[in-house]
Amino acid sequence: MQITALTTAVFIFFASTNAAARTWEEAYEKAEALVGKMSIEQKVNITTGTGRGLCVGMSGSTTDPDFPALCLQDGPLGVRIADNITAGVSGITASQSWDKKALRKRGEYMGKEFYGKGVHAQLGPDVEVMRSPYAGRIFESFGEDPYLNGVAGVETVLGIQSEGVIAVIKHFVLNNQEHNRTTSSSTVDDRSLHEVWAWPFARAVEAGAGSVMCSYNKINGTYACESDGSLNKLLKSEMGFQGFVMSDWGATHSTVDAANNGLDMTMPGGEGYFGKNLTKAVEEGDVTEERLTDMAKRIVAAYYKMDQDDPDFPEVSLNSVNRTKAPMVDVQEDHAKLVRQLGAEATVLLLNKDEALPLPADLKKIAVLGVDAGPDPNGLNCGGDNGLACNNGTLAMGWGSGSATFPYLISPYEGIKSRAGGDVEVVHSFDSWDTDAAQDLVRDVDVAIVCASSDSGEATVVDGNAGDRNNLTLWHNGDKFIEAVADANEKTIVVIHATGPVTMPWIDHKNIKAVVWSGLPGQESGNSLADVLFGDVNPSGRLPYTIAKNEDDYPVHIDLHDTIDYKENLLVGYKWFDAKNIEPLFEFGFGLSYTNFSFSDLKVKTSDNEGELVSATVAVENTGDVDGAAVVQAYISFPESAGEPPKVLRGFDKVQIKRGHKDRVSFAFDKLSLSVYDVEKDDWVVPSGKYSIHIGASSRDIHQSTSFTL
Ligand code: BGC
Repeated sequence: MQITALTTAVFIFFASTNAAARTWEEAYEKAEALVGKMSIEQKVNITTGTGRGLCVGMSGSTTDPDFPALCLQDGPLGVRIADNITAGVSGITASQSWDKKALRKRGEYMGKEFYGKGVHAQLGPDVEVMRSPYAGRIFESFGEDPYLNGVAGVETVLGIQSEGVIAVIKHFVLNNQEHNRTTSSSTVDDRSLHEVWAWPFARAVEAGAGSVMCSYNKINGTYACESDGSLNKLLKSEMGFQGFVMSDWGATHSTVDAANNGLDMTMPGGEGYFGKNLTKAVEEGDVTEERLTDMAKRIVAAYYKMDQDDPDFPEVSLNSVNRTKAPMVDVQEDHAKLVRQLGAEATVLLLNKDEALPLPADLKKIAVLGVDAGPDPNGLNCGGDNGLACNNGTLAMGWGSGSATFPYLISPYEGIKSRAGGDVEVVHSFDSWDTDAAQDLVRDVDVAIVCASSDSGEATVVDGNAGDRNNLTLWHNGDKFIEAVADANEKTIVVIHATGPVTMPWIDHKNIKAVVWSGLPGQESGNSLADVLFGDVNPSGRLPYTIAKNEDDYPVHIDLHDTIDYKENLLVGYKWFDAKNIEPLFEFGFGLSYTNFSFSDLKVKTSDNEGELVSATVAVENTGDVDGAAVVQAYISFPESAGEPPKVLRGFDKVQIKRGHKDRVSFAFDKLSLSVYDVEKDDWVVPSGKYSIHIGASSRDIHQSTSFTL
C-alpha cells in the first residue's frame, strides 16, 4: 500500500485548528503584492540580519514599500534576556506531563509573553529527538521518542502561533551534541532520517510552523544551512514547508550555495554572505531573482500569516545589548499559576515504597537537604544565560540560549516550608559535602528530603562540562550525599532536578522510600514539588526517556569524530533497550501515581479510511483510593518483515479518572502512524502483514495487546 498526499491531508486538519489569523494562501497573496513592489536590494535587505540589537536577531527593513525589521528572540522556555517575564518549565519537563492540553497552554502563555514584548518570532520550540543522554541541550526539546516530540512540538507551535508570534522550530537537522557542533558532519540512513530525526519537524510543519532554524552541523559533509537535500528536498518539497528558513547564529557559510539550496534568512547577519554579496550574486545570475523573491515572500508571508501587520502589534520592548535600557513591560500576568500546575503535574514519581508519599498529616519535623534544595548563595541569575556561574543552588533550567531570567525561584526548601505550615519544624542543610552535619541533622526527623541535580547546557563550559555532560552522575557530591542521608534516616525521599537521565547507584538502599523526578520545573519549582509531596496534586508525569542501570547501556555517547555516524539507525532510546534486551532502571513512559489503574477490554477495528485506518478503544479504571490521571500509551509492533524496532509509540492520552470510576480511551491511527519510510519508493508505505497494538502504562508495562492485519 502506498501513500500520497499525506502531508496535505494532515496540514488541512491543523490549519483549521490553528487560531493564527490568516491561512497560508491569504498570507501569500498579501506577500506577493508587497514583495512585488520591492527592488532587488530591498528583497535582499529583509533576508539579511543586522546583528544583535533590541533582539538577539533583527532582520533588515524596507521603506516604500514598508516592511519592518523583525525581532527574533530566544528561546524555547520563555523570553530570554528580559525582565518581567515568566521563566517556566523546560521543554523536557513539559513533555513529562504527556498532557496535550497543558502543552498547548504552555505554548499559549509563552506566545502571549513574546507578543507582549513585541517579538515577531520566538526561537523555539526545539523539537530535536534526544539521541544521547549526555547531550547538553536535551532539556530544550521533548525527549527520546519522535512521536512524543512531534505531539509536544505541534501543541507548542499551535499555542505560540495562536497568539500571533511565529514559532521557529529548531535545529534542522541532526544536531545532537555540543562538542564540535559547528564542525562535525552527521551521517544517517534515509529511513532513520525520516522516521526518527525529521519526524517531529514534519509534524510541526503540518501544524503551520512559520519558521525553521537550520543547524550548525554538516549533513553528509554539507553545512545544514546550505544542504539542498535537507532544506529544498526534505523540508520544502516533501514536507511542504511554506514559511522561511533562518540560519542558526553564524551557521551560514556561503552566499550562492546557501541561497540556492534553501536558506531564506541569515542570522545574525554581518558575516557578509547575504547583503551586498547576495545582491551581486543575483545581478550576476548565480542566484535567480525568482529565488530571491521566494526568499522574501516566505518571510513576508509568515509575518502576514500571524497577522503581524495589525497596527496594534506591540513595539519591541527588549534590549539584548543593554537590557537596562529596555522599557519596562510586564508580561507575566498569572502565568506562574500554569507553571506551578504543569511542574506538579509533570513530576514523575519513580519509587514509592510503603506508601511513603504523600507525606502523612501528622509530621512533626522534616529535613530538607542538599545544594539542590536551597537558593544559590551567589544570588539569583548569577551568571548571564542562567547557570553559567549559577550552579550552587537548586536547578530549575539548563544553561545557554535555551534559558531565561528567573523573576524569582522558589527552592524546594522554601516550597516545602511554606506548605508544611507553622506546626511542622523544617530544618535544612544546603551543604552536600558535609555529610556528617547532614547525618546529625536527619537522625531525629520524621522524613529526610534530599535533593540533588545534574546540569547541562549549550556550548559553554561549566564545572568542566562543555555543554554536554561528562557523565551521568549527580553533581555536588550528590550520590554520596544521598547515601549518607539514607544511612542516617529510615524515611529518606530523593528529589532529582536534572536536564536528562542520571545514574542511581543508591536506588536499592533500604531507607530510600521514594524517588521524585522533578526535572526542570522553572520558577515555581519548590511549590510544584510541595504540591506533589503533600498530596495536593497526584503526580501523573511519565518519563520521556529511558533511565538506564549503567551509563554503558546507552548506545550513544558524545562522539568526537569529524563524522558522526548515526549507526544506531532506528534504535533510538527505548527501542535500543527493547531490541537488545537490556533492562533499564526506569523505562520510557514510566511513572507512578498515588492511585492505581487497571486496563481491560481492548477493541480494535480496521477500516479503509486513510485518516483512521485502525482505531482502538480500551477501558481504564481507577482502582485506588484517590482521583488521578492515567497516561494511557499505545505502542505498535509492525509486521516482522518491516524491519521496525520491537514497538514504537503511536498514541497516548492523559485522562483524569475519579476513584472507583471507569473510562474508555480511544485511539485512531492514520496511515502515517502505520507506515515505514521506503527509501526505494521515496515514500511512506504501509507494510502488509500482521501488526500488534499494545496498550499500557509505560513502554514495558503493557496491559492489553491484540493484533490486526493490514
Ligand atoms: C543557538 C540557537 C539560538 C541562537 C540565538 C545559537 O547559538 O544554537 O538555538 O536560538 O544562538 O541566540
